[in-house]
Amino acid sequence: MSASVGTIVLADNLDVLRTISSDSVDLIYIDPPFNTGKQQQRVQLRTEADPDGDRIGFGDKRYRTTVVARHAYEDSFDDYLEFLRPRLEEARRILAPHGSLYLHCDYREAHYIKILLDRIFGRDAFINEIIWAYDYGGRSKRRWPAKHDTIFFYAKDPDRYFFDADAVERIPYMAPDLVGPEKAARGKLPTDVWWHTIVPTNSREKTGYPTQKPLGILRRIIQASSRPGDLVLDFFAGSGTTGYAAWELGRRFLLVDNNPDALAIMAQRFAQVPDVEWVNFDPTPYRAADMQASLFHSTAGTE
Ligand SMILES: C[S@@+](CC[C@H](N)C(=O)[O-])C[C@H]1O[C@@H](n2cnc3c(N)ncnc32)[C@H](O)[C@@H]1O
Repeated sequence: MSASVGTIVLADNLDVLRTISSDSVDLIYIDPPFNTGKQQQRVQLRTEADPDGDRIGFGDKRYRTTVVARHAYEDSFDDYLEFLRPRLEEARRILAPHGSLYLHCDYREAHYIKILLDRIFGRDAFINEIIWAYDYGGRSKRRWPAKHDTIFFYAKDPDRYFFDADAVERIPYMAPDLVGPEKAARGKLPTDVWWHTIVPTNSREKTGYPTQKPLGILRRIIQASSRPGDLVLDFFAGSGTTGYAAWELGRRFLLVDNNPDALAIMAQRFAQVPDVEWVNFDPTPYRAADMQASLFHSTAGTE
């Protein structure tokens, strides 16, 4: 990597991983497609006032809605674990001896992925199963509504991995009256169950990319498991959440995705970030697009 703050690559991640030196990456976070068997799609709409428009909105004014873009990727693999295996083997090889891997998945694949990770990293390298709990979307009456994702945390070497609990932003106590004013003011260290909202619709953070993860989740991982100046890698980068959080926290980043839609979203997201290096992709045409003025609507997704 050059002296840039970060590098964003359009490529199949296995090809990129094979070019990275062993023991050179401080932290890896990945959020592979969940093997839902669906096409993940998000439609980006623009709504403008128009007396002949098809929608009636505030003050009984009429609006016209135009589809600005559709972002989609296939989320179906014949053999999901065989797809992941060589990528996880490379991930372990390139991690520094003090490095860590966080793998984000959902209840459909978590148990199979845990066994695969145990085989590649060793059971003793398993540090945590983090549950990200959220409250969003419909509630099935046929079962307990599934409202969590799983994030596995593995160390390359369980005796040497870097972890700085003091650097993690603390959270409020549930019952502050029970702990006294001093402790209540300091807050507490999060446990392995993280209550955190999904990226709110129409928030500034929302990019319009399907399955975008919240910056708050990534900040916590990066604060705990890397130091300023470290290299953070996400080779299923999507909208670039990992890289953006890494940049905000003064880490370097390497992001890889094989979907040009993802790179187009990242071009907009990183438009204000100086010294980003782009590989196999020209971000220039996407930087001018006015994302904030658009409305984003989810037509599918796992959140
Ligand atoms: C669940 S999304 C990641 C979302 C991301 N965490 C975010 O916050 O936006 C998974 C991503 O993996 C990408 N992907 C799937 N197979 C890939 C491959 N072989 N190489 C690189 N990227 C791949 C998809 O294009 C998709 O953007």
